[in-house]
Amino acid sequence: MADYAIELSNVTKKFGDFVAVNNISLKIEKGEIFGLLGPNGAGKSTTINMLLGLLTPTSGKIIVEGKDLSRHTNEVKKDIGLVMQETIVEPELTAEQNLRLFARLYHVPEDEIEDRIDFLLDLAGLRDFKKAYAGTFSGGMKRRLETVKSLIHDPKILILDEPTTGLDIQNRTKVWELIKRINRENKVTILMTTQYLEEADEVCNRIGIIDHGKIIALGTPTELKHKIGKGSIIEIAAERQKLEEVAKLLKKETGETPSISGDKVEVSISGDHVRTMQKVLNALTSSGIQVNGISMHEPTLDDVFLKLTGTSLRDSASETVQSARAMLMRRR
Ligand SMILES: Nc1ncnc2c1ncn2[C@@H]1O[C@H](COP(=O)(O)OP(=O)(O)O)[C@@H](O)[C@H]1O
Ligand SMILES: [Mg+2]
Repeated sequence: MADYAIELSNVTKKFGDFVAVNNISLKIEKGEIFGLLGPNGAGKSTTINMLLGLLTPTSGKIIVEGKDLSRHTNEVKKDIGLVMQETIVEPELTAEQNLRLFARLYHVPEDEIEDRIDFLLDLAGLRDFKKAYAGTFSGGMKRRLETVKSLIHDPKILILDEPTTGLDIQNRTKVWELIKRINRENKVTILMTTQYLEEADEVCNRIGIIDHGKIIALGTPTELKHKIGKGSIIEIAAERQKLEEVAKLLKKETGETPSISGDKVEVSISGDHVRTMQKVLNALTSSGIQVNGISMHEPTLDDVFLKLTGTSLRDSASETVQSARAMLMRRR
């Protein structure tokens, strides 16, 4: 019996001189939902493509269910179900036909196919849409069909690359429920990637935060948040040119080192946070600095990312959108 579902040892992937995945070592336990959380371009898809044998690592070793991937690529493929970033269900086929097509592709025994299809449609909450064309489905329904489709050959591991990117919040929640159900009821190990903090927090038992090809933090959501300290975060928004001044004041009043990101300053505090907040408010009032907002919250995964990288994951996500927009504008 293999100890782990997936083991990566010192895995690196270079494209020319560019290092997309930088010496990652990671052990994913059987039965867990593991999330690779990171901004666009962090190296999530590259890592997954290596696990699937679609890309060859420049160096390092990958073991899946006890088998060395470089020597047993075809066997490993049987252990893995894959949900890609793009949805690829056939619009001209019904839900049932989509699954049957895949069942044949994966050589599911003919006498098991019907049961398997019904089981998977039930799992996806699409039983009533068995005979409906996939082209008529909402984005969320397509996504759910796509997800159960990758379970057709009863794999031990399900890999999902950004399963909810582009979905609205309602459909996102349904996909989360589906992933948890697949994990719980079918005992499938899950490895998923995401750019969404809430998603990693809500769905994953354990998270690896990835940035510039490196795992910069690893642990359960709670462990990661505790890295910040067990206290609270004070967040103050102000005009950008005032932020340094606010940071100085926060350092003086709390004794902790604040970080500046976008139009806000954050500092994590422990001990009597009501009293500390009071001190900060008094100091702000007497300093006369204009602020746009003050809040206090429990540490989030975004705070962890901010502390480790000096940028906010939310900011880097919106920066990506902005740079994509800028690129489009330039092309016009
Ligand atoms: N085939 C490729 N050739 C060159 N660079 C690539 C290739 N694939 C990915 N990259 C680069 O590697 C980095 C990581 O990409 P990727 O793994 O797709 O990130 P993510 O999935 O986290 O958004 C990016 O900077 C991307 O531009
Ligand atoms: Mg990707």
